[in-house]
Amino acid sequence: MINEQLEKIREEALKQLSETEGLDRLNEIRVNFLGKKGQLTGILKSMKDIPPEERPKFGQLVNEVRAQLEKEMEERKAKFEEAARNARLKAEVIDVTLPAKKNKVGHKHPNTVALEEVERIFTGMGYEVVEGPEVEKDYYNFEALNIPADHPAKDEQDTFYISGDILLRTQTSSTQVHEMEKGRIPIKMIAPGRVFRADEVDATHSPSFHQVEGLVIDKDITFADLKGTLAEFARQLFGPETRTKFRPHHFPFTEPSAEMDVSCFKCGGKGCRFCKGEGWIEILGCGMVHPHVLEMSGIDPKEYVGFAFGVGLERIALLKYEIDDMRLLYENDIRFLNQF
Ligand code: DAH
Repeated sequence: MINEQLEKIREEALKQLSETEGLDRLNEIRVNFLGKKGQLTGILKSMKDIPPEERPKFGQLVNEVRAQLEKEMEERKAKFEEAARNARLKAEVIDVTLPAKKNKVGHKHPNTVALEEVERIFTGMGYEVVEGPEVEKDYYNFEALNIPADHPAKDEQDTFYISGDILLRTQTSSTQVHEMEKGRIPIKMIAPGRVFRADEVDATHSPSFHQVEGLVIDKDITFADLKGTLAEFARQLFGPETRTKFRPHHFPFTEPSAEMDVSCFKCGGKGCRFCKGEGWIEILGCGMVHPHVLEMSGIDPKEYVGFAFGVGLERIALLKYEIDDMRLLYENDIRFLNQF
C-alpha cells in the first residue's frame, strides 16, 4: 500500500519533471517533492504505520527515489542553464563586420613643422641640436652676453622675474654661454626653445614665443662662413632662388652684427603686398661672437673665433604658411590648424 503510494509519488514527480520548461518550475517541483514539507518527506512520516521489520527496506526505497529525483533535477537544471547561457551568448553577439569608427589622428603644429625644417637643414650641415633651461640666471641671459645691469638692451627685453637674479629667459642666446662653458671646442650647435618677454599680445607679439639659436666656435672662422651658412639656410628654407642681404645692426654679444634679409619668396624681390613693397623680408639676427663674450665663458679670443645667429621660429612659420596673425598659432582652433 505504502509502497504503491511511493511509486505514485515517483511517477508523478518524473512526469512533472519531464514537463518542466524552466528553472522556476523545477524549483517548485523540488520543494513540492523533496522539501521539508514535501511529499517524499511526508511519506517518511508514515513509517510508523508499517511493521518494524519492513521499515529498513522501505527507508532504502525512499532514499532510492530521492536519489533518482535529485539526479533527474540536476540534469534538467544543467540543461536549462546551458540553454540560458546559449541564449545570452546569442543575444550578445557582436557584428565584427560593422565598419569601425574612424580615429581622428591630429597632425603637426605649424611651429613644429617649421622647427623640424630648421633642424633638418642645420643637422644636414653637421650641427648638433642642444637645449638650455627656460628658467635662467640673469647672468646667462644678460650679463655673460655683454648686457650688464644698466644696459638699455635690458629694457627692450623686459621679462618675468622669479627672483632678483632668476628669470624666464628672453632669448635662446643664453644657451650659447652654457655650451661655451663646457669647454668642448669646436662648437657647432643650434638650440631651439621657448623664450619669454613682458610683451602685450598683438599680431606680431606674444609674451611667449620660440627662437632657434645658432653658434659656431672654431679656429679661423670668418664672416664669410657666417654668410655662406646663413645664405644656404635661406635657400633651403625658402627655395633655391632666394637671395640674401646682410644689413649692419647692433647686438651686444656680437661684433660686427647684422640682420639678414631674404628676397621675398612671393614676388621674387619686385615688391608686393607680402613684403610690404620692399622686396626683402627680415629673417634673423647674427654676427661674429664678441671677444669679451668668449673670454667671459673661458675661451681665448686670440685662439678662437665664432659666429652666432638667432631666428624667431614663429616668424618662419608665419612666413612659410603666409599667416598674418601670430595669435592664430596659439589659439588651438582646429579649423585653423587643420589647414596646414
Ligand atoms: N637674441 C637675439 C634676439 O632675441 C637674436 C640674436 C641676434 C641672436 C644675433 C644671436 C645673434 O645669436 O648673433 O633678438
